[in-house]
Amino acid sequence: MAFPTVTPPSGAPRPRLAFLGTGYLGATYAICFAELGYEVLGFDVDEAKIAKLSGGEVPFHEPGLDELLRGNLASGRLRFTTSYEQVADFADVHFICVGTPQRADGMGADLTYVETSVSNLARHLRRRALIVGKSTVPVGTAEWVEQLVAKHTDPALEVEVAWSPEFLQEGFAVEDVLRPNRIVVGVKTDWANSMLYASHKGVFDLAATEDREVPLVVTDFATAELVKVAANAFLATKISFINAMAEVCEVAGGDVTQLSKAIGYDPRIGNRFLQAGVGFGGGCLPKDIRAFQARAQELGAGEALRFLHEVDLVNQRRRTRVTQLATELLGRLPGPAGPDLAGTRIAVLGAAFKPNSDDVRDSPSLSIANTLAKAGADVHVYDPQGMANARLARPKLNYEESMTDAVTGADLVCVLTEWAEFRNADPVTLGELVNARRVIDGRNCLDATLWARAGWEYRGMGRPNPSV
Ligand code: UGA
Repeated sequence: MAFPTVTPPSGAPRPRLAFLGTGYLGATYAICFAELGYEVLGFDVDEAKIAKLSGGEVPFHEPGLDELLRGNLASGRLRFTTSYEQVADFADVHFICVGTPQRADGMGADLTYVETSVSNLARHLRRRALIVGKSTVPVGTAEWVEQLVAKHTDPALEVEVAWSPEFLQEGFAVEDVLRPNRIVVGVKTDWANSMLYASHKGVFDLAATEDREVPLVVTDFATAELVKVAANAFLATKISFINAMAEVCEVAGGDVTQLSKAIGYDPRIGNRFLQAGVGFGGGCLPKDIRAFQARAQELGAGEALRFLHEVDLVNQRRRTRVTQLATELLGRLPGPAGPDLAGTRIAVLGAAFKPNSDDVRDSPSLSIANTLAKAGADVHVYDPQGMANARLARPKLNYEESMTDAVTGADLVCVLTEWAEFRNADPVTLGELVNARRVIDGRNCLDATLWARAGWEYRGMGRPNPSV
């Protein structure tokens, strides 16, 4: 397809962009695209969130985003609203960035927010516009969104739909949006393609000034939707693969960290996303592999994705492994009803699903902390950024204001999120605070020999016990 220059329907020189849903995805995109020079309007139904963003406060922890938000609010290029009418009146291209959580009644994705945002937006449109899905969705959703748009708009307006998945990682979101490793667009017409190209020209121009290229992959709707879930399924599989190797190392006496390094040198394999530990969590990978299986099943290709069920199981077993290790280290018996850890105090370092994030959705750390508490342990949690969200998600656990408060008097320390603060902690200093020097390194992020030398009984994931 060609990229003829298009005049945006608003008459503005560059398309005006709206991002509907200002969670991690929408807020980051809105802020970064304003930074790229676009006029941007961010929309959400959550008034508190919009008030925060309008006031210059990012409602979640994402390195570098606050400064960009404040700078772009000040420039006047970036605004936020809770009004569909304003969004419809303002933008040429509307990116749908709302959440698609796992359904309460099964593994599939809940598309309620997509339906509501698209229908309400479409009802208010008074001129031609492009609606672009960015949310992670089951394949076939873009066609359904087209039907919704047809139902709620005047056909004479010629409102069109496209799909453009995103690949940003929390903690690196700004970089991932400004300097993506690819842009994927699913389109049906030249007009949609040209509008999307114009909407990403800022990204291509930035790359050109830095002597980089950003590959653009133009596909049909189904492929664009599938690219996203396939990418996340592959990443989840890679993590579960190395965690499965960790299980084998544990019984065979191998060291998964060395194994991972050795296979990762093969460029066909690569060493990224090959860190064994307590497994993947967060708001994307776990729910996406389940929704993908559910959708494949509906389409009659369930067999093809059966391995993703195993990927999920390997991932869950790593969480159980920590409780097993804790039971062993604390000298308790497993017992038929699970271990009894009553009378022990355990420090859990980490609540976020990964470092540099305050996101605790499906966090392995919090889920393990909860299991340990259910087994009777007195669990004390500390996380550098995730405390507020953790308190909301698991109100019954004890939360401490610092790492030292959490470990003081502990019979066992579990490092479950690899924050730099924990990786660089001094085992000698911490050793003086605890009741007993026992540590589980759930992310294989500590120097095992150093900790063992400082008198700690160390257990990693898929690694032999260190010799001093
Ligand atoms: C993931 C994908 O990496 C993004 O490309 C995608 O855009 C995003 O989902 C999404 O769908 O929106 P994210 O959820 O931010 O991004 O987190 P990841 O960096 O992928 O990490 C996921 C989990 O895997 C974390 O709990 C992390 O600790 C774990 N992990 C990661 C490992 O256990 N081992 C590794 O080697 C890598």
